[in-house]
Amino acid sequence: MTPLRGIVLAGGKGTRLGELTRVTNKHLLPVGPYPMVYFPLKKLSGVGLKDILLVSGTEHMGDFVELLGSGKDHACQVTYKVQDEAGGIAQALGLGSLFAQGARSLVILGDNIFEDSLHDLVAEASKFPDDAFVLLKEVHDPQRYGVAEVVEGRIVSIEEKPKEPKSNMAVAGIYLYPPDVFEVIRTLKPSRRGELEITDVNNYYLSQGRLRSRPLDGYWTDAGTLESLAHANELVGKSMPRFV
Ligand code: G1P
Repeated sequence: MTPLRGIVLAGGKGTRLGELTRVTNKHLLPVGPYPMVYFPLKKLSGVGLKDILLVSGTEHMGDFVELLGSGKDHACQVTYKVQDEAGGIAQALGLGSLFAQGARSLVILGDNIFEDSLHDLVAEASKFPDDAFVLLKEVHDPQRYGVAEVVEGRIVSIEEKPKEPKSNMAVAGIYLYPPDVFEVIRTLKPSRRGELEITDVNNYYLSQGRLRSRPLDGYWTDAGTLESLAHANELVGKSMPRFV
């Protein structure tokens, strides 16, 4: 079986959080009793992934190393990769190409806070090692996300932050990719906002008939705006997790 590696993307400027990210990184802000980055790490180590790559910018990498060290308190080994300049989620993922060479990658955007375990995703994906997987969640504000149009249970299109969404199914920031994802990223062109878009990666797999989706049953939110960060804190507060 093709091995599976875990990747947490924790870069970006976090500008939508205003003063909160003036001197720190979004993924170090508190969600319940823990720094945000603990949550994606826990999800990855929870499905037995021991080798995890954390990608972040130059400004705060030292803080991540100080916080997480080797990963021993999280039952995993954390490797760090510096993103010199923010160039989009797909560009950040591309930095994992040596770390995950020849392997499949389970990728979590560090500001995605969610309830479901990733066990079922990993189990299904092991049956389809050449396919990519995205997770979908119904939301009230789809304009903020990648939006999937689903017909008879299959995705037929994904649009990034559409003004007129074709559905209210957001593509969550949790992805499982086959080993060729890094070749796909090398072919991408920057979008209008000058970034390599993860939605373009997903649309590539869609065009090849190699994209599968699963629903998220429990709660899911990003935490990249003041409103969604407050919501993440409310959700986590209800079932206070214990990570350390
Ligand atoms: C990113 C992705 C988007 C996805 C979202 C999930 O958006 O580009 O497709 O739906 O994460 O959190 P961003 O958080 O960069 O606005």
